[in-house]
Amino acid sequence: MRVVEGMPKTYYHYPRIVAVAGMRFNNKVNFIPLVWHTGLSFSPPLYGISISPKRFSFELILKSGEFSVNFVEFKYRNVVEKWGSVSGRDVDKSNLIRAGFKNGIKTDTPILDIAYVVHECELIEHYTLGDHTLFVGLVKATHYREDYFDDKTMLKVDSVSPLLYLGKHVYITVDPESKESA
Ligand SMILES: Cc1cc2nc3c(=O)[nH]c(=O)nc-3n(C[C@H](O)[C@H](O)[C@H](O)COP(=O)(O)O)c2cc1C
Repeated sequence: MRVVEGMPKTYYHYPRIVAVAGMRFNNKVNFIPLVWHTGLSFSPPLYGISISPKRFSFELILKSGEFSVNFVEFKYRNVVEKWGSVSGRDVDKSNLIRAGFKNGIKTDTPILDIAYVVHECELIEHYTLGDHTLFVGLVKATHYREDYFDDKTMLKVDSVSPLLYLGKHVYITVDPESKESA
């Protein structure tokens, strides 16, 4: 095993599941694909997303104090890639998808029609951590497609292919054949 100092700017800890954060400020709606995101707490329900201050989404979240976290299937990788290759400063990203979105029930955040799970979050904290900022959201509501989950909890990977990112514009999904209880 080769050892180098620090963490090289590579994708060694990928694949990671993709989430698309959505936000709205002054009627401007924007979407940003993310792989640096995680659940943080069940009680209270907290979800964290890590965003570079260079992104347009960064200022929209700070101004609106809200964001949604949308999970989509592998078949939507092309629109996700598009959302991740342009900035909402230059392009209206809400027009890049035909399916559209609706408004949240507890927040003014956009809820993607193509998503199978969405967390609506109210921004409660943010921490600058090196060259990214961790936004901590209190989850006010969760939308989910009931038929996509076993016992309302676990994703039915036999019929639903989650979207994972390997790096360098390459996407991948899971192999349901490998599923096994340990
Ligand atoms: C699959 C994927 C994952 C990404 N993950 C992150 C991330 O976790 N944090 C981040 O700041 N940018 C991430 N990016 C980059 C942003 O999505 C990209 O810079 C985007 O165009 C920013 O849009 P905005 O300027 O409208 O906010 C990712 C891009 C892709 C394609």
